Amino acid sequence: MRKMRWVAVMAMLIPSLAMAWPWSTDMMDQISIKPQHGPMGVRAFPDHSVPIPSTNTSMRVADRDEADAAKNPVPATPESIHNGMKLFEIICTPCHNYSGKGDGPVGMKLTLQPFDLTSDRIQHEVTEGHIFGYITFGGAVMPSYANDLYPNERWDIVNFVRHGLLQYSKDWLAKQASSAGAK
Ligand code: HEC
Repeated sequence: MRKMRWVAVMAMLIPSLAMAWPWSTDMMDQISIKPQHGPMGVRAFPDHSVPIPSTNTSMRVADRDEADAAKNPVPATPESIHNGMKLFEIICTPCHNYSGKGDGPVGMKLTLQPFDLTSDRIQHEVTEGHIFGYITFGGAVMPSYANDLYPNERWDIVNFVRHGLLQYSKDWLAKQASSAGAK
């Protein structure tokens, strides 16, 4: 009888140690994507949203050519442009400056001056994927930011460069001019 009790205790104990109860694996372990999970996951998903198989959680490009042809999967919403602006201010302005023209304090010291991002070339001629590719792979002198920025953050920057930078640059230059005049 005693032995039977032991067997019963062990039968309870062993699966619990091995997390083998049917309820030990719960809904925490499922295919859905969590915030901070995967390359697109830095931003929390909207409340009550459910990822479906085609949810774009990553956007990898193998090389510059593939980047050039890539279509921007991130709509240029005010949120995306705003986020792109914040990242641009932190990462790009040391070289490209707040004006986007390439005369930032670090940019001025480089052998090759950073290109003007307000130029017709960047604003209209190249594809959005080209700008994404430049941020991803870098250039002759420009470093790669693939390890520092998730793909969606890079697209946010692309959205800012294409849909916010011209006005931002004008406003910044006007502010500089007026504060220089006030001195
Ligand atoms: C350390 C300095 C530096 C930083 C930081 C930097 N760049 Fe550049 N960037 C350059 C230089 C220099 C060039 C000139 C071309 C080259 O290096 O190949 C350039 C060129 C470019 C071009 C031109 C591509 C072309 O085909 O004409 C784009 C677009 C660009 N940068 C975007 C950005 C963005 C967006 C950021 C911020 C994520 C950024 N850069 C950060 C230095 C920098």
